[in-house]
Amino acid sequence: MNQQNTTDKLLAIINKLVIIIVILVAGIVAMLYLFSKSSKDDIIASNQKDTKQIVTTDTNHYWQPKDLNLITDKALKEKVEYGRELLAHTATYLGPNGTVSKSTNGLNCQNCHLNAGTVIFGNNYGSVNSLYPKFRARSGTIENLYKRVNDCIQRSLNGTAIDSNSKEMQSITAYINYIGSDVEKGKKAVGSGFKDLGYLDRAANIKNGMAVYEAKCQSCHQPDGKGMLNATKNEFIYPALWGDHSFNDGAGLYRISNFAKYVKYNMPQGTTFKNPVLSDEEAWDVAAFVNSQPRPHKNVPNDWPDISKKPVDHPFGPYSDIFSEQQHKYGPFKPIADAQKKKETAKK
Ligand code: HEC
Ligand code: HEC
Repeated sequence: MNQQNTTDKLLAIINKLVIIIVILVAGIVAMLYLFSKSSKDDIIASNQKDTKQIVTTDTNHYWQPKDLNLITDKALKEKVEYGRELLAHTATYLGPNGTVSKSTNGLNCQNCHLNAGTVIFGNNYGSVNSLYPKFRARSGTIENLYKRVNDCIQRSLNGTAIDSNSKEMQSITAYINYIGSDVEKGKKAVGSGFKDLGYLDRAANIKNGMAVYEAKCQSCHQPDGKGMLNATKNEFIYPALWGDHSFNDGAGLYRISNFAKYVKYNMPQGTTFKNPVLSDEEAWDVAAFVNSQPRPHKNVPNDWPDISKKPVDHPFGPYSDIFSEQQHKYGPFKPIADAQKKKETAKK
């Protein structure tokens, strides 16, 4: 009986031990499971953090035009909206059949300053309010915004200057200043103007450029480069790239670096700086081709009064260096830029 009792007790203890071991093992398994899950979550979380960081460094900081709907003053709002309208449909108001005056060649400002000057690296106006008035080496003077707008009217739109006090000039400048008014004075907005493009190590090639033009441009801008008018013939659907209704040879786009930068990041239509279609070579070559075609001439002998400040691709002499007009028009530009740099450091 005594022995039976002890065996029973032993069995009970073993039973308890087994239960404890089972519970312990279950506990350990559960803990291991939870631990592995939480560390997986940590990895996922930290991965997500990494992607988020990559995404933010890539897309933030680009300039955003200030929203026109935030204007509470009714008179100002009307003025700014009319300014936007003038940039989008310049020809309707100021073109050859303009309803306000016949001051320009039929292009719209936004043909070159996309979406009324708001597109990142689409030659936008992000840094105008913050940086004007400013000194420009082209005129050798401090230019206010009226002068700058009339510069584009007289060159890019091959037209005649409009009065600073006119409703049109006042509205255009009010609009341009307004959309850039969130940018700190003296600062350049990120993504404003053009995106940089490296020089080729050769001269731009007109013949290659013609092939690019035929393959990727002429379906819209037409084989004769004269573009296509709309049905009422008061505005272009596809603007002229050369000929009587294009920019003249005093315009910014007549410098092939500007043309190449504009086209690389904005053409064919619908292209953005994030998905360029043309290679660098194609952009430079098509710039050389288009700017070798006939266009209106502007007599501007007083441009760059300090000739040593002429940009490497200013296509008109005299120059302060030994390079030819031909090389200043088509490149190679690296040797010119290097020589300029050398001179600058020698001065210091
Ligand atoms: C054929 C193309 C073209 C057209 C059309 C055009 N522009 Fe321009 N505009 C340019 C280029 C290119 C530049 C930059 C030139 C440079 O930096 O040398 C520029 C620069 C400017 C600037 C200075 C921007 C800055 O950040 O310094 C203003 C302001 C401007 N244009 C206003 C206008 C207005 C207003 C119109 C319409 C009346 C107009 N532009 C039409 C090509 C054009
Ligand atoms: C699908 C049609 C289309 C194609 C293809 C196209 N463009 Fe354009 N291009 C346009 C339109 C439309 C505009 C005016 C943009 C606006 O007003 O929003 C324009 C504007 C321009 C301008 C500035 C305005 C001017 O008249 O000077 C240049 C320069 C230009 N294109 C060059 C080119 C080049 C070079 C190619 C070929 C690589 C090309 N485009 C291909 C439709 C096109």
